[in-house]
Amino acid sequence: MTDFADQLLARPRHTRPYANIVEAVGWTPLIRLNRVTAGIRTPVYGKAEFMNPGGSVKDRVGPAIIEAAERAGELRPGGTVVEGTSGNTGVGLALAAAIKGYRCIFTIPDKMSQEKVRLLKAFGAEVIVTPTAVAPDHPDNYVMMAKRIAEETPNAILANQFYNQANPEAHYATTAPEIWEQTEGRVTHFVSAAGTGGTLTGVGRYLKERNPAVRIIGGDPVGSIIAGYAATGSKPEAAPYKVEGIGQDKIPGTLDMSVVDEWRSVEDRASLGMARRLTREEGLFVGGSAGLICQVALEVAREIDDPEACVVFILCDTGERYLSKIFNDEWMRENRLLEPSRVTARDMVSGKEDKAPGQLIAVAPETPVRQALGFITQHNISQLPVVSEGDCVGHISEASLMSRVLENTATLEQSVQHLMDAPLPVVDAHVDLPGITRLLNRQNPAVLVRHDGRLAGIITRYDVLRYLTDAR
Ligand SMILES: Cc1ncc(COP(=O)(O)O)c(C=O)c1O
Repeated sequence: MTDFADQLLARPRHTRPYANIVEAVGWTPLIRLNRVTAGIRTPVYGKAEFMNPGGSVKDRVGPAIIEAAERAGELRPGGTVVEGTSGNTGVGLALAAAIKGYRCIFTIPDKMSQEKVRLLKAFGAEVIVTPTAVAPDHPDNYVMMAKRIAEETPNAILANQFYNQANPEAHYATTAPEIWEQTEGRVTHFVSAAGTGGTLTGVGRYLKERNPAVRIIGGDPVGSIIAGYAATGSKPEAAPYKVEGIGQDKIPGTLDMSVVDEWRSVEDRASLGMARRLTREEGLFVGGSAGLICQVALEVAREIDDPEACVVFILCDTGERYLSKIFNDEWMRENRLLEPSRVTARDMVSGKEDKAPGQLIAVAPETPVRQALGFITQHNISQLPVVSEGDCVGHISEASLMSRVLENTATLEQSVQHLMDAPLPVVDAHVDLPGITRLLNRQNPAVLVRHDGRLAGIITRYDVLRYLTDAR
């Protein structure tokens, strides 16, 4: 037998058959990170919730909510389960509903990936897609709409994951004791993020009861209000972001802020970039929320720099749910979310929405200064390359040209070749963003891009700065 097969048999896992799929939820593995932790001495472990049968941490919550409703006599045979869900809770509910014969109706915001909608439909659920860009109390908001459907449908419950205490209790009863046992009580830091806050609250509460010194850390997308609210006590303005399933524009009833010691905000680009790295470098195929949480876990691990500590974080859901987004370069590029090393000069040029791609605005050496200034104003640009026979022979910038004209208005009638500065550097279309950045300085405020043998575009210092700071 191979080493791999030997090791598999030596560590028996599912040794007995299960009565149904819900019994196979939980006892997800705790997996050490090895490569994305390069240079970090603190051990970091991910709890592989994406290995649950429905592919997410929410498989624990769906069955728990349904059982609680049955026990309370609120859900009877033939009943309906309604929920406003960003997808994963729907799958958890649908798993349990499928084996128990309940009907499911889900409302889901339109920013969520198509895969999630199709997945819920695959389980036989009825799915209603609602607009993301409405206020939390608007009738078209996905939570408000679910509430209304549950009220109007006989023998129906609203799963109500944002307020239902069965949600954090499921994590208190299962996720947390698993982590405690898997680390033999050695866990020192627990990192997650809050969608409903169920995971952070349930796991955090349990771990603190076992050892009050365990630090509970919440990651939050930039644009969500939770981290800001925790820091200031007042609710900041919410802004859109791309990570799915976590962060909020209001504080959920299932989030006990007192359990969380610290919040850290993370930008979309770092979160989604880390989801891609976890997949490529660790073989952990996960979504953006796991990427965000991992980013925080690594930050914490780097800061504490202690080989005796034990950082555990949640790998919330499977990357398969994001094949058309995070794992699609085209979508990442369109949303300016690719890591700089994967962005090329060509991407930068075609990403300038205000210019026709492939068209370089330039002047000939003989062009009068008056006409060149007209171009600069007309196209609202700061740098104008001077091109002769397909090559850059110099450049003029708005600022230097202006000051010379103001000194001596006769300059207006001269040709630009008498006033131009040195030619701009030219890069191949495949050069990456760090390669471009290295060439930019005070003398070279822009670079030109050559594609298919001709000058096809310009990238200014402003373009690079905007790329680096724009995207969330
Ligand atoms: C992808 C994803 N990650 C994380 C979470 C957060 O979990 P919780 O609701 O327990 O805070 C959710 C919740 O919906 C989710 O869908």
